[in-house]
Amino acid sequence: MLDSPSTAPLVKSKLLTPIKVGILESWRLISLSYSDPLKHTQHLNQKYGNVVMHKVGKMEVVHLFGADANRLALLNPDNTLSNKKAWDQIIGRLFPNGLMLRDAEDHRYHRRLMQAGFKSKAMQGYFSQMAPQIERAMANWLATVDNQKVLAYPMFKNMTLDLAATVFLGMDLGADARKINKAFEATVAASMWRFPFALPGTLLWRGIRARQTMCDFFQPLIEERKTGDGQDLFSILCRAEDEDGNRYTDQEIVDHINFLMMAAHDTTTSALTSMTYALAKNPEWQERLWKEMSVLDGKIVQLQDLSKMVETDYVMKEALRLYPPLPTLPKFSNKAFEFGGYTIPANAMVVTSPIHTHYNAEYWDDPQSFDPLRFSEERKEHKRNAYSWIPFSGGAHMCIGLHFAEMQIKLVMFEMLKNYRWSVPVDYKMPVQQSPISKPTDGLPVTLRRR
Ligand code: HEM
Repeated sequence: MLDSPSTAPLVKSKLLTPIKVGILESWRLISLSYSDPLKHTQHLNQKYGNVVMHKVGKMEVVHLFGADANRLALLNPDNTLSNKKAWDQIIGRLFPNGLMLRDAEDHRYHRRLMQAGFKSKAMQGYFSQMAPQIERAMANWLATVDNQKVLAYPMFKNMTLDLAATVFLGMDLGADARKINKAFEATVAASMWRFPFALPGTLLWRGIRARQTMCDFFQPLIEERKTGDGQDLFSILCRAEDEDGNRYTDQEIVDHINFLMMAAHDTTTSALTSMTYALAKNPEWQERLWKEMSVLDGKIVQLQDLSKMVETDYVMKEALRLYPPLPTLPKFSNKAFEFGGYTIPANAMVVTSPIHTHYNAEYWDDPQSFDPLRFSEERKEHKRNAYSWIPFSGGAHMCIGLHFAEMQIKLVMFEMLKNYRWSVPVDYKMPVQQSPISKPTDGLPVTLRRR
């Protein structure tokens, strides 16, 4: 393993050239990269090695495989790679200027200010709003759902959206709920759109209009939030100030809150869904986790209580390993650099693949199997290489909402396990659409039975 990542060109490195494939094979590979990134990346890696370039139209796309590649791409020495130039091409018209779509000093400045929303005092505030809301939501289901099939994915999606309204926006959306929910859904749906044209009626066209609805909704609230004492994320961003007295402009606040809503929503929904699936397939783990949680006496009183859920943490990590919500991470090369004996050109889309590393037998024992104890202190498979488990990315762009996500997932799982046992038929296998954010194509039907 490298001691510190270096991008200095090696004298002996070879200039990388695109693999030669026919038009049909090229189309097959592009479509596989959307439908099944795991199969796609495993195929490329087995056939061509750790550094593979192919062309999509005029763009050069370079896949780098393995934990050392992840380390290089995420630590990004000398700003060799740009997040902005990569993500702008994917979601730039829907979530312009979001934190993930910024580079270098500009990114550092914006991230520093945003940290105010993720400090422990702020997290305590989110916790005390979220815990009773999740408890109430489950109690409401309890009144209606028993021994019934429900679709887990849309159920979690609705719940995380309601939570976002409270915790992120500090409001009961009331009469605006429908309008805002619709606009938010349309912007997120549009980020799945694969073609860059916003022709009238297309998802992208609708998404761009919906973004405007969201901006028009947030903008007039800002003045009042700046002077108020709200403890929601939006209010905290409105008041955030660095040591030199710098603050976000109104437009920056709107751009950040739009992006944060998206970044938090589908990823957490995806993680909750895959954890629910893994626990349905392995019901002995439901009992094991509930036993671990029973020390909490049916109530999570404090944020610190969550750290008692050690095995829940292993299951969450294992679900994120098997189904990373973002299976691939795109970056864009600002300049040429060396990796694996090759010179990778400037202006290429450089893709690292958490999903590929997560299933790589070089780092994991029996990587296909569900085995939460691989994360235990005794086994620590994820410590064999610091860049083998990267569902939250790493380096400067590492997910800022990681602890928020963990808190929400544990709170929801606690209430689920307190109230229910759930199952899927023995021969059921969740059909997953992995790209761009992992989700089940059938919504994951599970049968819930009251505990
Ligand atoms: C299981 C849930 C989540 C997963 C798997 C996840 C994953 C990720 C990943 C992979 C990145 C980095 C992308 C890159 O390297 O370009 C990222 C960035 C980010 N995430 Fe998350 N995320 C989750 C939840 C959240 C939540 C709950 C929030 C907000 C409360 C959030 C806010 C962000 C932000 C603002 C960034 C950009 C960070 C930066 O560029 O500095 N995420 N997330």
